[in-house]
Amino acid sequence: MDIFDKIDQLAGEIDAFVIDGAETMEQFRIKYLGSKSEIKDIFGEIKQVPNDQKKDFGLKVNALKTQAEEKFDAVKESISAQSAKVSYAGVDLTAPTESISLGGRHPISIVMNRITDIFSRIGFVVAEEREVEDDWHNFTAMNTPENHPARDMQDTFYIKDSTINLLRTHTSSVQSRVMTSTKPPIRIIAPGRVYRNETISARSHCQFHQVEGLYIDKKVSFADMKQTLLYFAREMYGAQTDIRLRPSFFPFTEPSAEMDVWLGTETESARRLTKGTGWLEVLGCGMVDPNVLQNCGIDPYEYSGYAFGIGIERSAMQMYNINDIRLIFENDVRFLKQFSSLI
Ligand code: DAH
Repeated sequence: MDIFDKIDQLAGEIDAFVIDGAETMEQFRIKYLGSKSEIKDIFGEIKQVPNDQKKDFGLKVNALKTQAEEKFDAVKESISAQSAKVSYAGVDLTAPTESISLGGRHPISIVMNRITDIFSRIGFVVAEEREVEDDWHNFTAMNTPENHPARDMQDTFYIKDSTINLLRTHTSSVQSRVMTSTKPPIRIIAPGRVYRNETISARSHCQFHQVEGLYIDKKVSFADMKQTLLYFAREMYGAQTDIRLRPSFFPFTEPSAEMDVWLGTETESARRLTKGTGWLEVLGCGMVDPNVLQNCGIDPYEYSGYAFGIGIERSAMQMYNINDIRLIFENDVRFLKQFSSLI
């Protein structure tokens, strides 16, 4: 067959080719437009065409190629759209999505962050330390030597055969860690988890959280402490909040006190939380005992300071009306979800 007849024949075939879907579209592409297409083959035959016909040949093959491309392009868009529709059959792309529920902060984190934030605003810097501690940082440095009766105040989880031998019973261990590694002035706030070997009930647990504060500088006084704690109470519980400091005892402070905030006796929950007195116990505090400064290598004749420790669970339970401390550690999503809109 003459090569020109072959071109005419192919033009007829292309014209007659029915493209009615993704499959026939692909067949058409391979047959006429791909790298091994019949049109490519014809291009290759130019060598056999006599010179005076080469120009004519070139024009005709190019026209053939354009014919195939135009036919392909004409159907391509509608068929691709059609096949996309097929694969999403039954799916309504305009329907609203299912709502994605965002996680939320744990109530303990909310309260802990809030307290940390209040102190950060007046220059306290966050300090975080280890939960597995040694005896010295948790007790001895904090003026509680071995056999001191005050060790009985806190039932300790010990780890056998190790020099790092206990789970810290309070965040006060961060005080000795910081004082032995930093020169005064020191102004830190230390949130964290602590452990005590206590029977688990609705009111107490073997793990809980505290926020520790420590301020050491020249000429720091009890009045400085009182004013700072009043600022804290008013930021935390409202601008009208009243506080009182009751004398107390802690081995690491002298004098020591406990701070209560006035919740009143008007509401049922205030009466329950304060056992009818109207006063909620919020924290322990005091002037850092000179022995503690000395133990940690700070000269007590040059420096003084105050410290405080705030229990988190009780505040969180009071704020969110949680009546059983165990809920805090169970991680039941039905409980946690109730806090998901809070930050
Ligand atoms: N560490 C004490 C406790 O766990 C709380 C405490 C009291 C911390 C007085 C202090 C403080 O820094 O000065 O019961």
